[in-house]
Amino acid sequence: MPYSKVLSIALLTAHANSALAGPSGGGQAEGPSPADLENIRISYYLAWVWAAIIGTILGFRITLAAIRYVRKLACISASKQSYFALPDQRYSQLKRHVLHAALFRKRHHHEIRLSDALNIGTLPSRFQAMFLAGYLGINVAFCVISIDWYGERPEVLTDLRNRTGVLAVLNMLPLFLLAGRNNPLIYALDISFDTYNLIHRWIGRIVVLEALAHTLAWTVNKVETAGWNVVAKSMAKSQLIMTGTIGTFAFIMLLLHSPSVVRHAYYEVFLHVHVVLAATAVAAVWIHLKTLPQQGILSSVVALWLVERLTRMYKIVKRNFGRENTKAEVEAMPGDAIKITLKMARPWIFQPGQYVFLYMPSVGLWTSHPFSLAWSEEKQDLKGDKGLPMDRQDILRMQKTTMSLIVRRRTGFTDKMWRKAEMCPDGKFTTSALVEGPYGHQTLDSYGTVMLFAAGVGITHKIPHIRHLIQGHANGTAATRKVILVWIIRSPEHLEWIRPWMTTILGMEKRREILRILLFVTRPRNTKEIHSPSASVQMFPGKPDVDALVGREVENRVGAMCVSVCGTGSLSDDVRKAVNERCESSNVDFVENAFSW
Ligand SMILES: Cc1cc2nc3c(=O)[nH]c(=O)nc-3n(C[C@H](O)[C@H](O)[C@H](O)COP(=O)(O)OP(=O)(O)OC[C@H]3O[C@@H](n4cnc5c(N)ncnc54)[C@H](O)[C@@H]3O)c2cc1C
Ligand SMILES: NC(=O)c1ccc[n+]([C@@H]2O[C@H](COP(=O)([O-])OP(=O)(O)OC[C@H]3O[C@@H](n4cnc5c(N)ncnc54)[C@H](OP(=O)(O)O)[C@@H]3O)[C@@H](O)[C@H]2O)c1
Repeated sequence: MPYSKVLSIALLTAHANSALAGPSGGGQAEGPSPADLENIRISYYLAWVWAAIIGTILGFRITLAAIRYVRKLACISASKQSYFALPDQRYSQLKRHVLHAALFRKRHHHEIRLSDALNIGTLPSRFQAMFLAGYLGINVAFCVISIDWYGERPEVLTDLRNRTGVLAVLNMLPLFLLAGRNNPLIYALDISFDTYNLIHRWIGRIVVLEALAHTLAWTVNKVETAGWNVVAKSMAKSQLIMTGTIGTFAFIMLLLHSPSVVRHAYYEVFLHVHVVLAATAVAAVWIHLKTLPQQGILSSVVALWLVERLTRMYKIVKRNFGRENTKAEVEAMPGDAIKITLKMARPWIFQPGQYVFLYMPSVGLWTSHPFSLAWSEEKQDLKGDKGLPMDRQDILRMQKTTMSLIVRRRTGFTDKMWRKAEMCPDGKFTTSALVEGPYGHQTLDSYGTVMLFAAGVGITHKIPHIRHLIQGHANGTAATRKVILVWIIRSPEHLEWIRPWMTTILGMEKRREILRILLFVTRPRNTKEIHSPSASVQMFPGKPDVDALVGREVENRVGAMCVSVCGTGSLSDDVRKAVNERCESSNVDFVENAFSW
């Protein structure tokens, strides 16, 4: 056994020794029992499980990043890139059958809906399901192994109570870590917040089940040895039992109030109640663990939460306060959309795939909503009495960055914003805003061919990629030789959302060499609305045949290919299926931007 492990077990044992000496701990005054030591060992096993998971994914991610980097360098000045067009057989099988596979045949992000308003969620992917089932299995095993099930019943129940309690507290560490927007594992492992959210929800369920088992084991034991009266008395009089009961109740409420139907129908209410219940559970468990070494773990949980909240605040202060604070111009657009132009107090380097959380106190008080950054521009601020720039400092001061969002009107915050803009005489208003970010970032410039699918407002995620790839091609900093955008909209008026940006993109140097745009209008008022302005920008009525489109581009690909999608769940599932069916015969990756929390 490594020295550090022996040392930490010794330390924990010493700590447990003193802490468990009281009647509440379940140990004896003379020191920890073999069962206590076994619980410490199980805690280490769980920590090793996490270390192994993180280490494996990190190794995988670093290898992929290295491959992409080498591919980009090798392909920047190569026009054919034939070597990279071919797949690695084993990796492509892994992608097809595990990494990118839907759980069963096709359905993953296509929401299961009872009606327009009742969204009962999505199915996890096959890999996600395997991970979650594995983690659940490990927890079930850790709850029951090395307990002497044939021993005296009170002892069995005591061991089960302690084991499930220890595991519930331990699991609160990943539970809280993965809930945060600023979870460092998002960047380190290149796994989206959306996926961590899914894992957070399942670990939450595991914590609740373990906490329930812990409470039940105590209750059954107490009832059998002392009767219900003593149980009731303990709940009313003993701080340990009262806080345990409050904690368990808060956990049950957390479980009951967070199904997808509630989350999606009343997101803000859900979020506020969730925070209050989580704080109640942590506070109650904190007092419950007063004499136990596990209180140290709960301190780390609270520290994680605090650091995450402070990071949010730091980002807000850093980006929005300067000589002038951040302002937002909100403009109602045709097709139930809003364009928000953010005049940033202090900008950052804009990169494709970034999103921000927007606070607009005059509309949504303290609430924040995530939106993808669609565009960024540097402008000279020549207004005001600052006069002509005299030096570099003046020029920098006059430089103003604007970041733009396109927001589809839904029923809460976005609806309020839209109505407020509509009521203004020129259809827009200016207000103070706070931008928290940036979050997320993706580069696709190591691929020879990039195919981007967007449905409706999903285009906001794709526009920055297109600009970046064309720029990279023109500057000789990207391997990309072909970009195909497939944008599906209901009506041609949705083109207005991005018209000025598209005009800029269509005017970019070398754009004609690489960019093709296919627009699909699913509900045109008449066929006259559908016309193709040029060979590289074509418009079609109806929905695309996703499989045929992907098939054609895979046939004609240059080098490695990436197919990326941002839009409705059903579109994502169609695109994934089309890519998966071809990934064993060609080097094609699938990248999905799903925002399903
Ligand atoms: C990373 C990311 C990027 C996004 N980018 C865009 C974009 O560029 N343009 C765009 O129009 N939409 C985007 N969205 C969706 C957008 O955040 C929601 O449509 C918006 O928050 C809805 O606000 P509402 O109060 O009007 O929603 P409601 O009508 O109350 O709810 C509509 C849906 O939005 C979800 N939702 C509501 N509030 C939030 C919240 N605070 N955080 C997360 N989800 C919420 C609800 O669960 C529900 O499914 C993005 C979402 C994510 C997660
Ligand atoms: N920009 C982002 O970063 C971002 C962020 C979060 C969410 N999104 C997602 O983007 C989606 C788009 O939102 P929206 O309200 O603007 O979209 P929308 O108007 O509901 O749909 C856009 C278009 O896609 C078509 N479509 C839907 N499913 C399709 C499929 N399987 N195959 C082909 N076409 C399909 C629709 O056709 P019909 O309506 O005619 O059926 C419609 O013309 C939402 O689901 C949202 O969750 C985007």
